[in-house]
Amino acid sequence: MPHDRFTRRRFLGRASLAIAGLHAGRGLLAAPVSSRSHTAEIDILLNEPIGTIAPELYGHFAEHIGGVVYDGIWVGEESSIPNIGGIRKELVTWMKRLRPAVIRWPGGCFADRYHWRDGIGPRDKRPRRYGRWNDVTEPNFFGTHEFIRFCRLVEAEPYLAANVGTGTAEEYQAWVEYCNAPAGATTIADERVANGSPDPFRVRYWGVGNESWGCGGNFTPETYCAEFRKFTTWLPAYGVALFLIASGPSGNDKNWTARFFQRWADYTHAPLQGWSPHYYCGTAGEALKFTTDQWYELLKSANGMEGLITDQWDVMGKFDPKHEVRLVVDEWGAWHKAGTEINKAHLFEQMSCLRDALIAALTLDTFNRHAEKMAMGNVAQLINNLHSLFLADGDKFVATPNFYVFEMYKPHQGAKAVRAVVQSEKVGYSAGGERHEVFGLAGSASVRDKALTLTLVNPHMEEAVAAKLRIKGGAVRSARRVLLTHAKPDAHNTFDNPNELVPRTDEASVSGSAFVLDLPPKSVTRWDLVLG
Ligand code: AHR
Repeated sequence: MPHDRFTRRRFLGRASLAIAGLHAGRGLLAAPVSSRSHTAEIDILLNEPIGTIAPELYGHFAEHIGGVVYDGIWVGEESSIPNIGGIRKELVTWMKRLRPAVIRWPGGCFADRYHWRDGIGPRDKRPRRYGRWNDVTEPNFFGTHEFIRFCRLVEAEPYLAANVGTGTAEEYQAWVEYCNAPAGATTIADERVANGSPDPFRVRYWGVGNESWGCGGNFTPETYCAEFRKFTTWLPAYGVALFLIASGPSGNDKNWTARFFQRWADYTHAPLQGWSPHYYCGTAGEALKFTTDQWYELLKSANGMEGLITDQWDVMGKFDPKHEVRLVVDEWGAWHKAGTEINKAHLFEQMSCLRDALIAALTLDTFNRHAEKMAMGNVAQLINNLHSLFLADGDKFVATPNFYVFEMYKPHQGAKAVRAVVQSEKVGYSAGGERHEVFGLAGSASVRDKALTLTLVNPHMEEAVAAKLRIKGGAVRSARRVLLTHAKPDAHNTFDNPNELVPRTDEASVSGSAFVLDLPPKSVTRWDLVLG
């Protein structure tokens, strides 16, 4: 379909033709799509690959905090809640739908007080310790073996965060040996065997401290770098290609990064593969109560991930010009004020709604667009916490809209990201008595064989976007749209109403190398485009 001159009327006319079989099911297209509409242009450049989207960019994080581990993941073998060796069965079933590549554990701030030996051996003999968050008691029922079993059940790689704040290099190196040495190799390996795991765990991903600028020890970048070097010198590898991750800055603090890397480059470079900034976009209003301006304000804040990635990458490149170290954003998400917890004992638990789903989609799109820079991303946190994919309380369990975004974005995992240039009018809003602007459309594209996957976030509260798509270097034979939207911006799933906000799939009657995509207001869409 040639698209030279595009009048608005033609544009909208084509937009309404674009979807065949569109149905106004629950939560779908409550307003007629083309009543008010913005225009946008998307160019997909199939011959401009960015890099492979590491499946690890869609990673997870589970900390011993509030209801994440106890109640969320671990219910115990004696529980009446269906479990697999103590691990919540329903969580395993839902996680497997995502093909999760990696899970980070045991923290977070918890990691820098955690002594791994407390969590091995017979469960009834394990010590009870100060649990750090809100002075709870940590029973250590869920330790290294239980975590590895959880990872194996959901087919994810484990990512362990070592204690630099209150631990020693010796303790850390012994943990690596415990996990990775073959049976019979050392006394520590034999201890693992005696604890029921003859095969080494072969853990590849190791974080060395967490937020070392803060809860992880209040280090300066220079003193942390010295610790990092000490901890990682001559690690036992046992044939595992270890991927070592250093604690990056709070948000986009370029000074922390420059000072760490300056010190790192001063010596013979210590082994280092990943650099981990954390980025919480915060909140605007409350989890389920916000104005239209606050909706846009938070989306704009979430879009700060773009600048964080490019800025951090630039600073790192000054000391690591070949870019051998890649980014690991191992904590990200919205952080709302308390008040929507389903269980008051679940510290930081928040209800995620449509706005959070758009934040998740926007973030994953940002990671995709920087596939060559990113080694991993971990949403904080898996269950019963900030920006969670699941909520559970006793025998009740529900998947949040964030889960559905991760599921929608699954085809990107392992595919080749290609450049997608999106041009759209910005959206204006007010915050702090001033006018601001936020992107009018964002997204990413990837290719695997003949499958072109395009994901898009339309942030407009009221207005659809009619996006003129041009594919350079290929043409589409058939298409399908998966859509996540709702008439209410605070729509969310509850135990009683678990399907309030779930994606719907429609066949789309588009073909060729140029056509118009219809993007409803406040929506996430995935376009499955089959190249001819
Ligand atoms: O995710 C909750 C906490 O936020 C983590 O423990 C810490 O790393 C971050 O500050």
